Amino acid sequence: MKVPNHIAIILDGNGRWAKAKGMPRGYGHIKGCANLETICDDIKDLGVKYLTVYAFSTENWKRSREEVEGLMKLFRSYLKKCMKSAEKNHMRVKIIGDPSAFAPDIQDKIRQLEEFSKDYDELYFQIALNYGSRDEIVRSIRKLAADVADGKVAPDAIDESCFENYLDTAGVPDPDLLIRTSGEQRLSNFLMWQLAYTEFYFTDVPWPDFHKKELIEAIEKYNARDRRYGGVKEE
Ligand code: IPE
Ligand code: IPE
Ligand code: MG
Repeated sequence: MKVPNHIAIILDGNGRWAKAKGMPRGYGHIKGCANLETICDDIKDLGVKYLTVYAFSTENWKRSREEVEGLMKLFRSYLKKCMKSAEKNHMRVKIIGDPSAFAPDIQDKIRQLEEFSKDYDELYFQIALNYGSRDEIVRSIRKLAADVADGKVAPDAIDESCFENYLDTAGVPDPDLLIRTSGEQRLSNFLMWQLAYTEFYFTDVPWPDFHKKELIEAIEKYNARDRRYGGVKEE
């Protein structure tokens, strides 16, 4: 099976999955987090080079205090465990988003994980934490504007590739396939610049139930598509 170079996933539906089982939303997040570890291994086995997942948005702070605290606890344990997965899968892990809103110990764990995994190159794994596409674009413009003010960049030299260097995803190729689980068909502020020519795949399966079989189904559907990038498909 031919696999996409870069798969992006909006991990959605943990809360509804748990509710359907009569369990609290936090249980869904725990199961969803465990599923992320498994899918990461599957993605590596299939030979996909880049994986980017949406785990916490800039809007997710609006959830109840209890849910946000539960998620922070989960991030702490996940970031620690992720070191082992990075070592096992030889994967480089990068956090995209603005980590400054997190508690100092979480920021430390992010730095440690990125530093620990920085020389691995078999799978490039981006985790979006406190990520919002609008926020990313505004932060990028701020950095770019500072470089212009310092005379490092001439306004006329700003083009698409120059701008991309300021995004959190600098150096990461655009996703080929975006998967969103659990039925919603929207981007919810995810990678709006980077998804310009990405193929979208929506499934009703909630994230905790999205396994290798569902992943392969998504890739097969993707392979049957006719990607054009504005041109005409060659014979
Ligand atoms: C995705 O599941 C995980 C996060 C956004 C942190 P949700 O928590 O959005 O689950 P639903 O969509 O409410 O079911
Ligand atoms: C998007 O899911 C964010 C993540 C999966 C981290 P949400 O569940 O927060 O999005 P909305 O609120 O349904 O748009
Ligand atoms: Mg949701």
